[in-house]
Amino acid sequence: MLNTNGGKQSLDISRVGGKAHDLAKRLHDSIVGQDEAIAPIVQMYQTHLVGLSSGGRPIATFLFLGPTGTGKTRIVEATAEALLGNPGAAIKIDCAEFQHSHEIAKLIGSPPGYIGHRESLPRLCQETLDKHHTESVKISIVLFDEIEKASDALWHLLLGILDKGTLTLGDNRRVDFSRSLIFMTSNLGAAEMSAMLSPRLGFAPAAESRSNEMLEERIESSGVEAARRRFTPEFINRLDKIVVFKPLGNAALEKILDIELNAVQRRLFQSTPSCALELHVSEAGKRYLLREGTDTRYGARHLKRAIDRLLVQPLANLIATEQVRDGDVISVDFCSASAELVFWKEARNLPQQEEVAATTDEVTQIFHANVAAATWTTVPQTQLAPV
Ligand SMILES: Nc1ncnc2c1ncn2[C@@H]1O[C@H](COP(=O)(O)OP(=O)(O)OP(=O)(O)O)[C@@H](O)[C@H]1O
Ligand SMILES: [Mg+2]
Repeated sequence: MLNTNGGKQSLDISRVGGKAHDLAKRLHDSIVGQDEAIAPIVQMYQTHLVGLSSGGRPIATFLFLGPTGTGKTRIVEATAEALLGNPGAAIKIDCAEFQHSHEIAKLIGSPPGYIGHRESLPRLCQETLDKHHTESVKISIVLFDEIEKASDALWHLLLGILDKGTLTLGDNRRVDFSRSLIFMTSNLGAAEMSAMLSPRLGFAPAAESRSNEMLEERIESSGVEAARRRFTPEFINRLDKIVVFKPLGNAALEKILDIELNAVQRRLFQSTPSCALELHVSEAGKRYLLREGTDTRYGARHLKRAIDRLLVQPLANLIATEQVRDGDVISVDFCSASAELVFWKEARNLPQQEEVAATTDEVTQIFHANVAAATWTTVPQTQLAPV
């Protein structure tokens, strides 16, 4: 809301607009609990869109630190997906692959006359950078993973890119990085962070939120201190923002579970041979997946492994053995007697619900978890075919 005061109008500098607003929405939909990383990406993109970037350097340069499995790589993929329509459009350079100076030739090519010259395109040439440009977005997204493992030669290249936005290839051609978003990740301090997180297995009660905040602060300062110890001031000075990703608490993992269950549903719809199965996981089923998938040391990776093992792999078996087929609705619930997930298929040609006179102990509830308006449907046990 704008206030007017004697002909002067106060302005709201916190709002972003247009395509930057769309980017913010897409990132908030897919990345949980890391708003401090989303905000500078959106802001630098907004500044670029209106033409106010300083020029002669990349659009933005970020260093991401923090515990494993907290979204450092995912946010780069999600940015590529939102801007270029494809998470694979992020150009990833794994710095651990280039620890020896001679390996740099794979990145920038060899000088004319050297072995390997013109054998294959250097990984960081202009063609690679421009490859994923779309009609409307001429931006490249480059991710340097584990930069603490970069050799001195790679480090030298990196500094040039961050400072002047250019890279000189082996054959002296120049690569222009001035329309690139450059992301760097580092595992510096990760072991220390993992040690801080290790006693925190399982569900943290809400009363612990103060200690969660203190833990986040300790993790943040341990990341930043490790980076300042390891990296030179000239490197740190060239960064637009250092973000230490937060450990993912229970509420964040719960949201990520929903995102991942939607992703499983999408895969079921897209899988070949076409198998348009509809999946509903009950609240109890979700709680079980969360219990099995929570280990704060490993972030969301542990949860994704639990989903694969307990949900995706059984679904694959059901499809392969033709126990379920195109158009079936599968319900997944937790059975406390056997302490495992149970899978049900809804029988076809069900009578309408109002036609069914069911007693309470004859009914089973199926949770429609993946639709926007989540609902419970009461269905008599007799209509369910155990798979
Ligand atoms: N904050 C998050 N929001 C949504 N999904 C997440 C988040 N963090 C992790 N995930 C999920 O977990 C997966 C692994 O996370 P990611 O690869 O981003 O970890 P990372 O922080 O890069 O870890 P590492 O330091 O080990 O490389 C992602 O592909 C994504 O599905
Ligand atoms: Mg990563």
